[in-house]
Amino acid sequence: MDSTKRLTIRLENLQFSALRYRLVVNLEKSLAVDASLVFLESVDSTNHELARLMTTSAKPDLFAVVAAEQTAGRGRLERSWVSEPGTSISLSVLLEPTKNVEQGLVPLFVGSCVARALSTITGKDAGVKWPNDVLIDGKKICGVLSELKDQGVIAGIGINLERQQGAPDTACAVGDFASADFDGALSMVLAELRAGWSDWLSEGNDFALGLIRSTSVTVGMKVRAIMPSGEEVVGTAVSIESDGRLLIEGSETYLVSAADVWHLRN
Ligand code: BTN
Repeated sequence: MDSTKRLTIRLENLQFSALRYRLVVNLEKSLAVDASLVFLESVDSTNHELARLMTTSAKPDLFAVVAAEQTAGRGRLERSWVSEPGTSISLSVLLEPTKNVEQGLVPLFVGSCVARALSTITGKDAGVKWPNDVLIDGKKICGVLSELKDQGVIAGIGINLERQQGAPDTACAVGDFASADFDGALSMVLAELRAGWSDWLSEGNDFALGLIRSTSVTVGMKVRAIMPSGEEVVGTAVSIESDGRLLIEGSETYLVSAADVWHLRN
């Protein structure tokens, strides 16, 4: 397939000119590719940038900020998130749930959409460790940080394209399995999110729950969960409830809404 054809197909899939910024990326620090995507070479955090942009003017649903490097990337539970230039995709997307949308499912759903995209890209089974880490072969390839704002949810997505210096053994990257193509991976992730979000809004919460359950690699596993309070729970993850909470059966039954979860050997 020649490059012109490939570009055309991508643009049809994406409905935005994802590759156009390649031509100018070195000339401008910030580039609005179209009304729904801003590309930055470097930023403190795409979640922060999206929040700042939302205060200057209203943004459309699924508005996205993407960066090749973050200087102060943030992870869940106040951790930092390293995004060295050229090794990762840092993406934040604004989702504006309607009143019928079960808000507790939003972060899990984002992980599921990314898992679908990464399965296609790598040819491997990508799954979601509750609540929303994306794993391949048990190793983390993507993390999601969701933040609730007045206008909606900012879903921050960090994808490892190449292994970063000093990355732990528990991490993996797109480049371990396939070509680490920034544009291709970004395109696929945005396409999955757009299609999934539109299906959720038209088909209802059962659609989202079905997707979340089908991509979960936690349900059925023996797990250890540490709550924000420090309380520790060990048991079997039995299901993801309709509000997104994880049901763990151990010495008691626990319904967990926020925790750090480890998979233990079954
Ligand atoms: C985690 O696994 O702890 C979540 C990591 C989330 C990282 C992404 S990268 C894009 C967005 N901007 C940030 O500062 N964090 C998220």
